[in-house]
Amino acid sequence: MATAKLRNVLYKGFVVELEYSKISVIGLGYIGLPTAATLASRGVDVVGVDVNESAVNAISKGKAHFSEPDLDMLVQSAVSTKKLRAQTTPEEADAFIIAVPTPFLDDHSGDLSYIQAAGRAIAKVLKPGNLVILESTSPVGTTQKLCEWIAQERPDLRLPDTHLDTPDIHMAYCPERILPGRMVFELVENDRIIGGMTERCTDKATALYEIFVRGELHRTNAPTAELVKIMENAYRDVNIAFANEISTVCDALNLNAWEAISLANRHPRVNILNPGPGVGGHCIAIDPWFLISHLPEKTRLMRMARKVNDAKPNEVLDKVRHQIDRFRKPIVACLGLTYKPDVDDLRESPALHIVEVLAKESNAELLVVEPNIAQLPATLTNYERVKKIKLDEALERADIIVVLVGHKKFAKIDNRKIHESVVIDTIGLWQVNTYK
Ligand SMILES: NC(=O)c1ccc[n+]([C@@H]2O[C@H](COP(=O)([O-])OP(=O)(O)OC[C@H]3O[C@@H](n4cnc5c(N)ncnc54)[C@H](O)[C@@H]3O)[C@@H](O)[C@H]2O)c1
Repeated sequence: MATAKLRNVLYKGFVVELEYSKISVIGLGYIGLPTAATLASRGVDVVGVDVNESAVNAISKGKAHFSEPDLDMLVQSAVSTKKLRAQTTPEEADAFIIAVPTPFLDDHSGDLSYIQAAGRAIAKVLKPGNLVILESTSPVGTTQKLCEWIAQERPDLRLPDTHLDTPDIHMAYCPERILPGRMVFELVENDRIIGGMTERCTDKATALYEIFVRGELHRTNAPTAELVKIMENAYRDVNIAFANEISTVCDALNLNAWEAISLANRHPRVNILNPGPGVGGHCIAIDPWFLISHLPEKTRLMRMARKVNDAKPNEVLDKVRHQIDRFRKPIVACLGLTYKPDVDDLRESPALHIVEVLAKESNAELLVVEPNIAQLPATLTNYERVKKIKLDEALERADIIVVLVGHKKFAKIDNRKIHESVVIDTIGLWQVNTYK
């Protein structure tokens, strides 16, 4: 078995020995790019690979192609010191980290085509002694499948699923848990789960994360690590569903959900989350399905939570429709489009969905306030009645104000500006739920 060569690098004034002097990160999105730039900042030569040419071009100029605090600085420094290069095809390296998308298919099972494509692409340049880590959130069993896809491409290599003791390639599943808005910090500080296909694979992957992680590294096997990641997001989804159901109950009883929840949370062992307009983003709204579609009979609670959360945007829409009907020429301010506060990410956003439906079906003028994006997304640009404007102007002109996302900029407003409007506060930001 070949061993990866060790190389000394100077890091923060200390000479450290790196088992992996060259690491390739496949997929330079929200997860891959911060990982690549952080590794580069630790003295590793990093080759970032992405099929998206415009992302590669931006990174090659030292720029992140999406907005994330501190990331631009990190990428700029990694590229200018030549520790990070970006390109569209893989080349040889000591280790490969795969961080490509895992959406779901029509039947809600995981779409593994991106992982398969990435696996087949790196298979061409793999050599004995290499480590391959999958970071994409994946259904249980995906790392095993990745071994099989690589073996099909490279029958000359021994993979750890079939050659437990003497593999040429080590493989592990190491999920990512970083929070958009805090990615650069959490990448280093969070604990990580390291799930090797064998004990030796876990050793090898642990050595890689020791390069930059300050949190604890927890060892397990690949399928457990795959399950843990899905469990974490399903747990969040179920808890949010409970909060959302409470808000629906409060609406039916004409009570203030936020007051009720904050009082219940005074119990020492109760901690109910904040309700909202639904669940969005790339993870919580998707990942539980990887388990539900795999084991439908064993995941009734998770399925119900998904249904409760998916129903929430329609409940908000019904409230808005009801208010729109009261005005002859309604003007509706929609505060926020992103899937969570203070990011520019619109993926699976319930706020965006709500505004898209209103644009399509109502004759209301829609004033969209979204400070985190430069222009409206393509799905809204064709409507003359939909405009992106500043907060103050929207509050001044609107008959109905729908608060959809808790951006910091929305938190403090002059109450005098809204006291004549109907406010539909889906997140309890202003603690006013006044349907006039
Ligand atoms: N974004 C998050 O907050 C977060 C958190 C935890 C886990 N995850 C998981 O991490 C994975 C990646 O998520 P992301 O948010 O970084 O996605 P992303 O869409 O931001 O980035 C993925 C990148 O992979 C590239 N890509 C696709 N196919 C490729 C291929 N064959 N070769 C090379 N590049 C390819 C895409 O062009 C894109 O730039 C997903 O499984 C996601 O569920 C994301």
